Amino acid sequence: MNRLARASFVLLGAVSCLAASADDVLSPDGLIRFSLSTDAEGRPSYSVAYGDEVVIRKSMLGLRFESALPLDRSVEIAAVKRRSQDTTWTQPWGERRTVRDRHNEMLVTFRSTDGPDREFSIRVRVFDDGIGFRYEVPGQDAYGAVDIVDEVTEFHLPIDATAWWIPGRAWNRYEFPYKESGLDEIALANTPVTLRLASGTHLSLHEAALVDYAGYMLDQRRDGIFQTNLTPRSDGIRVKTKTPFVTPWRTIQVSPDAVGLLNSSLILNLNEPNALGDVSWVEPGKYIGIWWAMHVNEKTWGSGDKHGATTESTKRHIDFAAEHGFDGVLVEGWNTGWDGDWFNNGAIFSFTESYPDFDIRAVTDYGRDKGVRLIGHHETSGHISNYEAQMEDAFDLYESVGVRQVKTGYVADGGGIQRVDENGVMHYEWHDSQVVVRHFEHVLKEAAERRISINTHEPVKDTGLRRTYPNWISREGARGQEYNAAWAKPNPLEHNVTLAYTRMLSGPMDFTPGIFDLVHQGPDSEFRVQSTLMHQLALYVVFYSPIQMAADLPENYATHSDAFQFIVDVPTDWEESVALAGEVGDFVVFARQERGGDDWYLGAITDEVARDIEVPLSFLVAGQRYEATIYRDGDDAHWKDDPYDYVVEQRVLSRKDMLELKLAAGGGTAIRFSPIAKAE
Ligand code: NOJ
Ligand code: CA
Repeated sequence: MNRLARASFVLLGAVSCLAASADDVLSPDGLIRFSLSTDAEGRPSYSVAYGDEVVIRKSMLGLRFESALPLDRSVEIAAVKRRSQDTTWTQPWGERRTVRDRHNEMLVTFRSTDGPDREFSIRVRVFDDGIGFRYEVPGQDAYGAVDIVDEVTEFHLPIDATAWWIPGRAWNRYEFPYKESGLDEIALANTPVTLRLASGTHLSLHEAALVDYAGYMLDQRRDGIFQTNLTPRSDGIRVKTKTPFVTPWRTIQVSPDAVGLLNSSLILNLNEPNALGDVSWVEPGKYIGIWWAMHVNEKTWGSGDKHGATTESTKRHIDFAAEHGFDGVLVEGWNTGWDGDWFNNGAIFSFTESYPDFDIRAVTDYGRDKGVRLIGHHETSGHISNYEAQMEDAFDLYESVGVRQVKTGYVADGGGIQRVDENGVMHYEWHDSQVVVRHFEHVLKEAAERRISINTHEPVKDTGLRRTYPNWISREGARGQEYNAAWAKPNPLEHNVTLAYTRMLSGPMDFTPGIFDLVHQGPDSEFRVQSTLMHQLALYVVFYSPIQMAADLPENYATHSDAFQFIVDVPTDWEESVALAGEVGDFVVFARQERGGDDWYLGAITDEVARDIEVPLSFLVAGQRYEATIYRDGDDAHWKDDPYDYVVEQRVLSRKDMLELKLAAGGGTAIRFSPIAKAE
């Protein structure tokens, strides 16, 4: 059923539905209906319909505590309050400047019917692009201790859905290739999980505003019935808390098609506004780095003949950055602690002491003269106590030399974050446990005090906290480009076109696009990038991040300087973004308008299948002609046999044109549209 047909169906249905039940709430366009009820045993549950389609069947709700009585039964609805909102708010940086927050809210308060007199509420917000709901537990003495041992929120899904997912609570955190499968193959999955129902309706299950709580996995308990499985702390408690508290929002994005998910602002809308005040010091931009050289074994993080982070090399990188208009140079391996098995030696990293061949003041003075900042790097190897002990000094140092952005790293297997308690005892935690969620918030606050932004690698999943803390400028949190280096099986061909519809729904990713030497270990090596060169360019538009790296060694850009021009030109901060076409795991086309400018950029990528895609240019301004610089795969291009066959051409185009994109296997297209000045 198309959107209009659904709307009329729901409008008709809504009248009787609203009259019959006090516990439904509809989206402003009337398409999505969230229904809440309790059964004979006082167990709360909900369901969700999209038009006439039940997309979430009856699903139980509740919290269980270590000592207090649970909130999953013996409750009755005491009050229902409703509210509607239609406002806009502005992002200091982002994929769009203005975000509309239009939703209908229902606050349902439950009262316990046995045991002490207690209340709690479920707040539901229904937008045209989906739903968020959360538990709110007030400060009532009757609760006593409320350490949470289970949250039993269910998502009862249609059994014939197709899912795109990565395993939950596994050794490599979020860094797995995505799997496309029926629900039956899922045991435990990280969110966001993307689903296509048999009808073609698409859902994404995730969470928003994960603050002082544990991240959850989707845990399939019975066929099609998934439950929030909160990541435990090392002491077994899922969340140590006190009343009053609220949980993160449990989110369900709903769309008639795949691209609708990409155009949703649900996660951001459910986060709290900017808590930092003036954030003009948070600077989107592009950077290069002493980074890929280590990943392709040309340099080392540790000291010695091949040490990458030298003063001299950093200055040469600053020269390159200045020449081509990059804002920063990331330098990894500048600080002591990398020698030996750095993966397992998190306790010995210093965050203030440089190796003797790296002079932090010399490079930052040099960069200042050229308008290029050093980008700081703190690899913790997951030892958060060692990091926390030095954090203030480390950020003070960076602030004193003008560093505005720090990439942090938490390389440690899942469950391997190291925390030493006040008695000197070591505990091992998960990256998305409450302990580590708190750590990340602590880092952001310390950094913000010094006007520093954070780009977290091996992070907790993104739940939209960039709205509240705009200095959380980007993060990794998926298999990035680094897997196409010399140490791992490369990302499969459908990886990028799946990331766009899964990981990217949660927020910006520091994917690090722009590898130009695609066969860096020689043409016969399995270690390579499985894409065409044009696909690498298109990623700057397809994968949103306010900071984007030109990830390759600077010297590799000289070989294709005409293609490199796109990386030089493409902005990282946008007025507006629109996903135009695509299917999960197959292809995606994005258009984005430069923030504060009139240029539009388009990026399209495909998987292993070559495709011709027709794209209407209706996003362009009416009556305006544009010079389009098109970077496209050549006729013989193929990710494996001929990744460098490409064409850069100019065309004059306008809003009325239909553009045919020809993408090679593993290919892509990148376009810059610049308005042509009108004759007087
Ligand atoms: C993993 C990060 O993802 C990567 O970018 C970095 O180079 C290494 N850790 C070392 O910090
Ligand atoms: Ca990583």
